[in-house]
Amino acid sequence: MGKRNIVITGGAGFIGSHVVRLFVNKYPEYRIVNLDKLTYAGNLSNLSDIENRPNYTFVKMDICDFDAFLQLMQREKVDGIIHLAAESHVDRSIKDPFTFARTNVMGTLSLLQAAKLYWESLPGKYKGKRFYHISTDEVYGALEVTHPDGIEPPFAAPANAPHHKAYGEDFFHETTNYNPHSPYSASKASSDHFVRAFHDTYGMPTIVTNCSNNYGPYQFPEKLIPLFINNIRHRQPLPVYGKGENIRDWLFVEDHARAIDLIFHRGAIAGTYNIGGFNEWKNIDLVKVLIRTVDRLLGRPEGADLDLITHVPDRPGHDARYAIDSSKLRKELGWEPSLSFEDGIEKTVRWYLENEAWMDNVTSGDYQAYYKNMYR
Ligand code: NAD
Ligand code: TYD
Repeated sequence: MGKRNIVITGGAGFIGSHVVRLFVNKYPEYRIVNLDKLTYAGNLSNLSDIENRPNYTFVKMDICDFDAFLQLMQREKVDGIIHLAAESHVDRSIKDPFTFARTNVMGTLSLLQAAKLYWESLPGKYKGKRFYHISTDEVYGALEVTHPDGIEPPFAAPANAPHHKAYGEDFFHETTNYNPHSPYSASKASSDHFVRAFHDTYGMPTIVTNCSNNYGPYQFPEKLIPLFINNIRHRQPLPVYGKGENIRDWLFVEDHARAIDLIFHRGAIAGTYNIGGFNEWKNIDLVKVLIRTVDRLLGRPEGADLDLITHVPDRPGHDARYAIDSSKLRKELGWEPSLSFEDGIEKTVRWYLENEAWMDNVTSGDYQAYYKNMYR
């Protein structure tokens, strides 16, 4: 593939840190610039294992800073952008939608416009360039739960899919119309439209992927899985929204990172790919799996902590069901999730239990003070 200069935005966050690690390890000939504002969700200690590699640099920057980003493009001769930086938590978006519009919409537009100015100034213009935007399945809205007890999914699930169940006949396909409900998904939908508009209007080589819920190490403990693992460990209540019957489709974060690598290098320009593991779970069933796994690994009697489940008022506008059809990615590029959900959850719970210092650091906010002094 030769040498490439790639900016990965949001590389200090959950998914971004896995993507940065994969690229830095796999492509020593590339130059990888991790661009991140280090909000509450960005934590450079997520990358302490690779921070001294010669092919890696960190730049503290807000994606809304158009001038700074244009200068970075010129200085680093950037030919590829993998854009993950975003405000990512639905509950926060309900309380503070402006921040989501600013970063997710205006920030994405700012990157697009700077990339356009720089690439159009080059002799080869867009040749060999890529603007790859990472998005979510939440832009498609919510699917109906037509089979609350689950049915056999109407497609060939991966051989290692352990939880071979679908809770409805409908799935999100690449052609599904956008119908976002939360301020978070509305802001991501808007940014997806801008990315596609830059292809259609200016010919920028863009790619958009829409992935289902990720889980794994280094996820900020505001999201369901790390929050609940930590609460079970400390025997704190587990706030299940409503009856816990909402359905999410879970994918191990390293499988998402592998898909991003594949699509960045081999995906079709102007293409859209859905990424998901065919792995639907009702929240309440997932919470019980987490309780059983934490209890077993801590040597507590199995199910000892089931009484921590506390039903709390539902999230406003709570989407009933997400379920991704990722057949296109599997057929066209040969991607498969590598881990079964049982193995992924086991690996994830072990990681959080073995990395209590990371959790303490993030929950206390100490990491913020440390990096604030380092990067101003
Ligand atoms: P995250 O919240 O863990 O990390 C986001 C990162 O972006 C942080 O490092 C933060 O500091 C940085 N950031 C935020 N605002 C910024 C700004 N203005 N300028 C520069 N950097 C900024 O998020 P995540 O869960 O890793 O999600 C990454 C991307 O993947 C997002 O675009 C999200 O919409 C998408 N996505 C997430 C999931 C999921 O389940 N987490 C699923 C599908 C898609
Ligand atoms: P979350 O991890 O916030 O991801 P998203 O909202 O992007 O899907 O939530 C996953 C599911 O878990 C979602 O249906 C909301 C629910 N949930 C709870 O029931 N309690 C909680 O404390 C949280 C954070 C989420």
